[in-house]
Amino acid sequence: MADRVNVGAGYPVIVGEKLDVGETVSEAVEPGSCAILTDSNAGPLFASGVRASLEDAGWSVVETLEIPAGETSKSLGAYADILRALARANLARDATLFALGGGVVGDLGGFVAASYMRGIRLVMLPTSLLAMVDSSVGGKTGVDLPEGKNLVGAFLQPEIVAANLDFLDTLPENETSNGLAEAIKMGLLAGGEYLTNLLRVPEALAGDPESLEKLIIHAIRYKASIVAADEREGGVRAILNYGHTIGHAIEAVSGYGTSHGEAVSVGMCASARLGRRKLGVDFVELHEELLASAKLPTKVPPDIHPDGVIEAMGRDKKRSSKDEGHKFVLLEEPGSPRWGVAVSDAEVREILEEGR
Ligand SMILES: NC(=O)c1ccc[n+]([C@@H]2O[C@H](COP(=O)([O-])OP(=O)(O)OC[C@H]3O[C@@H](n4cnc5c(N)ncnc54)[C@H](O)[C@@H]3O)[C@@H](O)[C@H]2O)c1
Ligand SMILES: [Zn+2]
Repeated sequence: MADRVNVGAGYPVIVGEKLDVGETVSEAVEPGSCAILTDSNAGPLFASGVRASLEDAGWSVVETLEIPAGETSKSLGAYADILRALARANLARDATLFALGGGVVGDLGGFVAASYMRGIRLVMLPTSLLAMVDSSVGGKTGVDLPEGKNLVGAFLQPEIVAANLDFLDTLPENETSNGLAEAIKMGLLAGGEYLTNLLRVPEALAGDPESLEKLIIHAIRYKASIVAADEREGGVRAILNYGHTIGHAIEAVSGYGTSHGEAVSVGMCASARLGRRKLGVDFVELHEELLASAKLPTKVPPDIHPDGVIEAMGRDKKRSSKDEGHKFVLLEEPGSPRWGVAVSDAEVREILEEGR
């Protein structure tokens, strides 16, 4: 049984076990010529099966391109190589690009689809939990520059997202934890049934398909509702950055040795401590228990110095044209995020020291 979320009036997200990708996708997009973009982990595992399924449904797969796994492939160099390979394969203007992989393949493939021949159709086939709960929905695509992450890109909504839960069987446990960090974030922001459902996190980590499906559907439904209200991030979409202000800085200070999910986990716990201090509400234990149940860290790593984090937060902030101090998302309670809360350097230092 597959579950379905419609993202606005736009596109469907289908989540289920044993999804027939070709059949599922062809309900939303007329079969035609296409290319598959994947990476060196997902490709060997899934590309031939996906290709066969698409061909059975009447698609003509012109090319399968495989990039090396990892964030370093989200580069202008890889982007140019893919565009040129598609041009050499004579991929036509009316073709479709299938992004088969994690968030790296999704972001890069999305940007390729947004720009090749001024834009072709995009279908997301997420294979990591993070891509299923977060990156495949919302329309943000792009690549990194040596100067910083995600500095070039475009907004492009896919035609359909088809998440086959069986793909998660081979995902390493630390990558499942990474995806769960974002799922926990959405549950805390959404509250209610979505929050209660986070009790399923340990089962999801152990690979239970029903728990994974519930968490994915809830995360997508919540993200879709926020994105629909603010597609281009002028306002309320900022709440999706819960835990990310400190999280991004910790990632950068660790030289990206701390993964995004780990850093956001530490960032959310720090935000809960800030909430206790500034809003007089105490959800620190709730955060720590939920995140620990996904085997995520809750304390600031001992080798991360608060001054480095504050400096990195300052650099991040320069990317916004408005200079208004650190703006945080805090929870008044689960389900009631407040955004734009002004936080000083001194307060950041204190909660980082407190959370070692
Ligand atoms: N566009 C957005 O809104 C958005 C949101 C969040 C994150 N992102 C981006 O997503 C990226 C992170 O995504 P990610 O965590 O999926 O990273 P990733 O794509 O690098 O995948 C993580 C690792 O898991 C491997 N993998 C993926 N699926 C697998 C499977 N089924 N079996 C075995 N291995 C598998 C990958 O090869 C990689 O080594 C970052 O670049 C981030 O900026 C984008
Ligand atoms: Zn994130």
